[in-house]
Amino acid sequence: MNRKMRGLVGCVVLICCVLNGALGWSKEGHMMTCKIAQSLLEEEAAKTVSHLLPEEVKGELSELCVWADQVRHWYKYRWTSSLHFIDTPDNKCSFDYARDCHDPQGKQDMCVAGAIQNFTSQLLHYKHGTSDRRHNMTEALLFLSHFMGDIHQKLYFQPMHVGFTSDEGGNTIDLRWFRRKSNLHHVWDRDIILTTLADYYDKDVDLLLQDIERNYTDGIWSDDVASWSHCNDLSECVNSWAKESIQIACKWAYKGVESGMTLADDYFNSRMPFVMKRIAQGGIRLAMILNQVFGKSEEGFAAAT
Ligand SMILES: *[C@@H]1O[C@H](CO)[C@@H](O)[C@H](O)[C@H]1NC(C)=O
Ligand SMILES: *[C@@H]1O[C@H](CO)[C@@H](O)[C@H](O)[C@H]1NC(C)=O
Ligand SMILES: *[C@@H]1O[C@H](CO)[C@@H](O)[C@H](O)[C@H]1NC(C)=O
Repeated sequence: MNRKMRGLVGCVVLICCVLNGALGWSKEGHMMTCKIAQSLLEEEAAKTVSHLLPEEVKGELSELCVWADQVRHWYKYRWTSSLHFIDTPDNKCSFDYARDCHDPQGKQDMCVAGAIQNFTSQLLHYKHGTSDRRHNMTEALLFLSHFMGDIHQKLYFQPMHVGFTSDEGGNTIDLRWFRRKSNLHHVWDRDIILTTLADYYDKDVDLLLQDIERNYTDGIWSDDVASWSHCNDLSECVNSWAKESIQIACKWAYKGVESGMTLADDYFNSRMPFVMKRIAQGGIRLAMILNQVFGKSEEGFAAAT
């Protein structure tokens, strides 16, 4: 690419990020999830992932983990926009795939839980040499990596990731985050992580990432990692990850929160650990999927095909 082209592409990328509101935590959260995942890949999976990535990212999956947000409003990718979230009926605090996993027109499977299964199954066919040539395997990898972040990270909104229908996943609950105007969705999507970075990590994402990694290798979560990544039947696992998110949303995000409130230290200190844990879980589980799909073993998710 010559310099002018690069400038133009940079410009286009910047504009669509701004339009998408994809700056801020959603970006950092996705990047951390992907960095954790890539660091846990076994040899075979690591090779396949770098083979699928476009050359310009030099093998760094995290560079493209917000790609799915960047393209979701492009005409060609409009079909993907409902894949970023699940809206559950108000106050149900549960997830029922048959009831909840559809797009606004009612088309089944078109939600983040269906998408994870879809792109995992495409990658499995790729590994077995039976892939449908119409499907682009680089895109399947990027979608899967992004949606594993979405199903774990956000308080599902419109585009919320798992939230209630009528408030568009917290987007219509306006409030203050410390002294700034925000809304409940943005608090979970962006503000908690940015405040964490600013207050404890000198705004350095790598320092935060190291702390998260320490906590799952020999810190507070080290005994839980095996159960986080245990999965025989992908569709059951995906449903339970969505349920975890909805329960966190009910118990911790929405509870006691009303429009017009100010959320500050109490809310921040008690909720921050959940956000950090979801980033770790998202990364560990993405690695688990990629290792099973691309690994040497023939078992993997054979059932998911
Ligand atoms: C699965 O991916 C294909 C394209 O790769 C797309 O046409 C289809 O709508 C997707 N379905 C889901 C549930 O993501
Ligand atoms: C697959 O998708 C990527 C990302 O959109 C694109 O750069 C690449 O050209 C596509 N490959 C094919 C064979 O269409
Ligand atoms: C890591 O664990 C310590 C407690 O051992 C905790 O204080 C810290 O907030 C955790 N860090 C993250 C990013 O979860």
